[in-house]
Amino acid sequence: MRVVKKIAAMQGLARAWRRQGARIGFVPTMGYLHAGHLSLVKRARRGVGRRGKVVVSIYVNPTQFAPNEDLSKYPRDFARDAALCRKAGVDVIFFPGNSEIYGGKEKYSTYVVEESVSKGMEGASRPTHFRGVATIVAKLFNIVQADVAVFGAKDYQQAAVIRRMVGDLNFPVKVVVAPTVRERDGLAMSSRNKYLEGSLRQQATILWRAIARAKEKVRSSKRAVPATRLKAELKSFIEAEPDAKLDYVEFFDPETLVAKEQLVSGTHMALAVFMGKTRLIDNGSL
Ligand code: PAJ
Repeated sequence: MRVVKKIAAMQGLARAWRRQGARIGFVPTMGYLHAGHLSLVKRARRGVGRRGKVVVSIYVNPTQFAPNEDLSKYPRDFARDAALCRKAGVDVIFFPGNSEIYGGKEKYSTYVVEESVSKGMEGASRPTHFRGVATIVAKLFNIVQADVAVFGAKDYQQAAVIRRMVGDLNFPVKVVVAPTVRERDGLAMSSRNKYLEGSLRQQATILWRAIARAKEKVRSSKRAVPATRLKAELKSFIEAEPDAKLDYVEFFDPETLVAKEQLVSGTHMALAVFMGKTRLIDNGSL
């Protein structure tokens, strides 16, 4: 396994691999890897075969964090990440610094803005977030030149934004979305779970329990369930946990992400909850 820090070196490697006829699988991450990330690596390997190459990028991308967010304290442990990648059969970790990505002679000035599926939910709560995500992923696609890129369903709206971007801008890459990996008690794995101290860790299962409860309501109802009613009910259910504060819960079409007023089986649900100072997200199909 190699660690590559320079853009030119990564592009050179990708060119050489392509000349040899090797397919390239890619998993973009911000590091502090867990079993969710590693499931994407496995999926990437399956996508390119034994003779293909798998690249994981580890880069905490500043442009997707707002000034009041956790950029500086985002968890990092490169040695541990590298050991996990080696064990998982990763060929290259692309691990650039900030000046490599946003430096250069002139001030960085080009951004990618998706204007449809990035609008509500995370886009409403974090207005510059998806501009940062789309920009870094577009840059990484040009650097790694992957045939297959794997994203997690954990960040459902992010995956939708990337799909749109790839379609609209004609990136020659196949986007695969892999299922959310959970802890035994249902909590979706996340690098940010590290922030959950003391009783917050147990309280954090409320996101998964809220999804299960919504699913149960919709499935047991003979008629479509009004979104406003279920939203109000879930808000009190969630905020019965002493440190939980609901940011949003939304119901929408799983393909278009257009909001739904009447909920039926197959409607998608996503939510964001502050657990103390830590903001957690999750989603699932009803
Ligand atoms: P990060 O949060 O590190 O996540 C990297 C990838 O892992 C994303 O595609 C995310 O959806 C996926 N992932 C996270 N938790 C998961 C889980 N429990 N199960 C399955 N997949 C999971 O998402 C980002 O980084 C960044 O926004 C990035 C795309 C790298 C751009 O900076």
